[in-house]
Amino acid sequence: MGLFVGQNVITLPSVDSTNEYLKAELSKSTPVVEGTVIMAVEQVAGRGQKGATWHSEAGKNLTFSVLFNPVFLHPSNQFRLTVAISLALAHWLESVLQYPVSIKWPNDSYVDGRKIAGILVENMLKGQTWKSAIVGIGINVNQTDFPVGAARRPCSIKQFLHRDSNIPELLSDLCNYLEQEYLALKNGGHEAQLAQYKQRLYRLGEPHPFLIDGVQVTGMLCGVTETGKLMIDFNGHVAAFDIKEVEFVF
Ligand code: BTN
Repeated sequence: MGLFVGQNVITLPSVDSTNEYLKAELSKSTPVVEGTVIMAVEQVAGRGQKGATWHSEAGKNLTFSVLFNPVFLHPSNQFRLTVAISLALAHWLESVLQYPVSIKWPNDSYVDGRKIAGILVENMLKGQTWKSAIVGIGINVNQTDFPVGAARRPCSIKQFLHRDSNIPELLSDLCNYLEQEYLALKNGGHEAQLAQYKQRLYRLGEPHPFLIDGVQVTGMLCGVTETGKLMIDFNGHVAAFDIKEVEFVF
């Protein structure tokens, strides 16, 4: 376990969503300690990005949320936390799989073009101060059957290692990686993290089709802006898009 991330792990047999549970805890009068982890054995209404549902077979995967209080960052720099967390997850997965892991913008973990993990960060702001961030992470661990038509051909750790993994052990190890990158961010390491994040971007420097406002166009993913917009080069003209404006075409 890290020094503070995962010192306090609350395991729930069944919950709607660990992000929702943590949010509800934060609204109560008893303070929640930074680094607290809410982990679910079963999540019945798991949430993904852009209003999607996060499906996870009960007892087979890692579905958890961590509380961070990034008060040292201005709310305009929210993307910096996304970078740190995505990087920690990619490094950790690579150590588990012994296989390259890329980051599909903004924060999915991909192995061989298939999604293995996703992150949903929800920020709590108080005026101009960033009070707390609920970092929800879903990782496919021991699941091998995925719903037909599931987005992005999901895959799991088991499909790479050909054996079951111990979920609490994985969580404990991952907490160390999360803590390390979070502390690096706190100590001014954003530039270095952003450089590593960019190097790992899925489809970086390759021409591919994208859906821009519903229209399919081919462009070359060439980086991200400081605020986390995706930069795509269309024959020498570079444009930046936020998550609502662009979709990868697979
Ligand atoms: C995505 O890829 O769209 C993000 C998926 C995030 C899923 C995790 S599972 C734990 C936490 N609780 C939720 O309801 N969602 C996140």
